[in-house]
Amino acid sequence: MKFDFKHKVALITGGASGIGLAVVSNYIDAGGQVVVADLNQQRLAELTEKYGTDTFLGVPTDVSNEAQVNHAVEAGVQKFGHLDNAFLVAGANKLGPLLDQSMADYDFVLNIDLRGVVMFIKAFGRQIRTQATPGTIVNIASINALVPEPLGSAYSIAKAGVQMATQSASLELAPFNIRTNAILPGLVNTPLTESMRENPEINAEMMKNIPFKRGADPSEIAQVALFLSDDASSYVNGASIVVDAGATSATYPDLSQLFK
Ligand SMILES: NC(=O)c1ccc[n+]([C@@H]2O[C@H](COP(=O)([O-])OP(=O)(O)OC[C@H]3O[C@@H](n4cnc5c(N)ncnc54)[C@H](O)[C@@H]3O)[C@@H](O)[C@H]2O)c1
Repeated sequence: MKFDFKHKVALITGGASGIGLAVVSNYIDAGGQVVVADLNQQRLAELTEKYGTDTFLGVPTDVSNEAQVNHAVEAGVQKFGHLDNAFLVAGANKLGPLLDQSMADYDFVLNIDLRGVVMFIKAFGRQIRTQATPGTIVNIASINALVPEPLGSAYSIAKAGVQMATQSASLELAPFNIRTNAILPGLVNTPLTESMRENPEINAEMMKNIPFKRGADPSEIAQVALFLSDDASSYVNGASIVVDAGATSATYPDLSQLFK
């Protein structure tokens, strides 16, 4: 699908890799400029080189640090004059059994995956309120907001929280002309899932539950994110769009043998 984001500026967290990077490249292809807040300074430098400073601003940011979150928004406004679309993509995971995982690991996941999103909603939302122009926010949650990941309780709890943060923001930010929506991706082929996908047994088990028998290309998530930021979705607010090839519907074993 062709979108037009000319004269628009996006704030993208986690834009140095995976889904966030696909959002960066799709948004720039559609004519927009981007402010990318990410921990990975080396990748930010490489992407600045690739896209040029008229189009790309990398702001080294830990999304779990409120001062750095606020600084990323300020730096973007200082550079481009305004912001229009936020894509809150940065995320991380630490697996561990619910009964034994340390609270330090819980805090690590919740601070990045949930608090980081809430702090960016606040910083970006306040900026749009000041500008008095329309804005959009797309949060990348996960199907784990609906279906818990085994040994991933911290991640699943955080992602369920992102879904509710999206709904809360959809009410409170609507008066400022901001639409807030979430995407709940299934398996996406990014570095985050590499260790699972490269394990043949785990990969085979995952494929059983994915009707398309493949993980998504990051661009297949980015295209939905751009749709939710475009006027084509002007009445969509507070929605959670599941993008998982039907995986969350695949709870049954294969019953076709009953008909043989
Ligand atoms: N890959 C999947 O299958 C999948 C499925 C559902 C949801 N998601 C979600 O999509 C989002 C993107 O994941 P991905 O698969 O592209 O992963 P990825 O590892 O490829 O990219 C994550 C990016 O976030 C950045 N990041 C991590 N911690 C950060 C922090 N504290 N501050 C700033 N930046 C930080 C990393 O540097 C990296 O650039 C995450 O929120 C993830 O939970 C991924």
